[in-house]
Amino acid sequence: MVKVLFVCLGNICRSPMGEFIFKDLAKKEGLEKFVIARSAGTTYETTGQDMHEEAKLKLNEKGIPYRRHRARRMQKRDYSNFNYIIGMDEQNIQNIYNICGEDTQSKVHKLLDYTDCPKDIDDPWYTGNFEKAYEDILKGCKALLKFIKEKHNLNFDKDYTKEELVSLIYEDMKKYAAITPSDGKIIEYFALGSKIIDIRVWISDMYSIELDDEDAIPTLKNYYKDLEEYIRRFEN
Ligand code: 4NP
Repeated sequence: MVKVLFVCLGNICRSPMGEFIFKDLAKKEGLEKFVIARSAGTTYETTGQDMHEEAKLKLNEKGIPYRRHRARRMQKRDYSNFNYIIGMDEQNIQNIYNICGEDTQSKVHKLLDYTDCPKDIDDPWYTGNFEKAYEDILKGCKALLKFIKEKHNLNFDKDYTKEELVSLIYEDMKKYAAITPSDGKIIEYFALGSKIIDIRVWISDMYSIELDDEDAIPTLKNYYKDLEEYIRRFEN
């Protein structure tokens, strides 16, 4: 599971467009269960507002689905909750640093830095040019998704080894788990916030699946897909 937070100033034009465009691209590639996109702003001025009407019109025109949006200002805890924190312009990046502090895990990037034409995405709130914003955001989202797919091996047609699958599952679990050694086994409780969900995974059992079972790879793949689906439902 890879989590991306798109960030702009007001969270009513560029970053929600990024969120919905990115979701649409991921869905078209069958990756909607494996990448989560959200958006936020860096000001409280627009809190609670829906996406700008012109941004909605532009998404309608391009056939990109979206939902009722409520603008929110980014919080410091978003830094640990997301894998990628993607600003639209240099001012957003500075504001993100002001909110989150030092980018110790190199999560903060500007969207068009993933393209071969790195630059700011002009704010259509001021320019009125939503077509240009859309084109830039689409270009950036395509490049970002390509980068994430390659970096995180989001490809279920790939021939994974058992070790790679166990490691993917384990990485996912670590984000949500309170790890408690018990009876010589590691028990993973999946916790989101204070909520403990009723999945428990005994890693040692998974390793024992691995040993000789010829179904190990399909079993682990299905397990990983189920897990992603489970996490996604609780995130939404
Ligand atoms: P955005 O554009 O950062 O792309 O959402 C803006 C929207 C609203 C404001 C500024 C920028 N505002 O100041 O209200």
